[in-house]
Amino acid sequence: MKRRAKYAAGLAAPAAAAAAMMVLASAAMANDALLARGSQIVEDKCSRCHAVGRAGASPVAKAPPLRDLSRRYPVETLAESLAEGIMTGHEDMPVFRFERTDVEAIITYLRSISPG
Ligand code: HEC
Repeated sequence: MKRRAKYAAGLAAPAAAAAAMMVLASAAMANDALLARGSQIVEDKCSRCHAVGRAGASPVAKAPPLRDLSRRYPVETLAESLAEGIMTGHEDMPVFRFERTDVEAIITYLRSISPG
């Protein structure tokens, strides 16, 4: 009896590990997709005013490079503004409203370019 239980556990552990790796792999893939989407969105909609990469100055001097936003607040706090289009406080900046998945993509991208 004891032997059999041990045998079963011996099988279960590698199976669980394999399942965990598949979950991780798909999370990494989802993350890549979000990053690509986020990068495309900011390139499209934001790069005319903001620096959107890891280096370089913004085309519009008053617009902070997006990578610097994380120094002021966690970029996650932008999620609501991006979704609800409440970025009206910014002179010269159009109001954007993004779908949830696009918001996630943008935040993922912003995190990726943020120093530290
Ligand atoms: C037409 C130019 C323009 C575009 C396009 C633009 N912005 Fe801006 N944005 C600005 C300017 C100018 C400021 C600074 C305004 C100020 O400080 O009064 C700013 C400020 C910001 C801030 C700073 C908010 C704060 O005070 O902390 C965020 C966040 C931001 N923009 C995000 C974005 C995102 C994300 C996009 C693309 C989806 C975008 N902006 C597109 C011009 C633009």
